[in-house]
Amino acid sequence: MQRCFIAIDPPQPVKERLGLLRADIPAARWVPVDQIHLTLSFLGSIEESLLPGLCRQLGRIRAPGFQLNFSRTGCFPDHRHPRVLWLGLQPEPHLELLAGQIHSVLVSCGIILEDRPFSPHITLARIRSGRPHEADPFLDIASDDVIPSVTVREFILFQSRLTSQGAIHAPIMRFPLDPV
Ligand code: 2AM
Repeated sequence: MQRCFIAIDPPQPVKERLGLLRADIPAARWVPVDQIHLTLSFLGSIEESLLPGLCRQLGRIRAPGFQLNFSRTGCFPDHRHPRVLWLGLQPEPHLELLAGQIHSVLVSCGIILEDRPFSPHITLARIRSGRPHEADPFLDIASDDVIPSVTVREFILFQSRLTSQGAIHAPIMRFPLDPV
């Protein structure tokens, strides 16, 4: 079995800018800068035998590249119980369309997905059991005019290996989008 997810990998300089959005929250575990990504779909653990067919079908997706613009900081599920601290993205129809195409491919390959609507965000930190307002220093950061927009030219199928040092992500295959 391989634990997999599909994501957009921002360019390194943008990841480094995102890595600066670290408020002083002692309980927060910040995502290592190299691992910052935008999840399009989390597949969970899948049989390795599914991978060649899955890659073939993902490779058939025709979608244009697009521009991603960041928006505000936020948290899941809400500021009284902050668990996931994220940076949001401005609405982008091409992103929604791409996530929808990927979802259809995964379903057609027999991969069972969580029944959650796609809610685009970049996770920057996690708090195991966040107390009310613990994330407020992060939520107060005005980020939308500091982080440059990103041109998305590909999406990537990643393997995520869980280790005692945390998850290690490795690209399995890259899928180019049509030129922007
Ligand atoms: P997110 O935090 O950006 O939503 C790789 O594990 C990625 O898959 C995570 O960064 C997480 O993205 C996403 N993911 C979604 N559901 C998950 C789950 N049940 N367990 C682990 N990761 C999940």
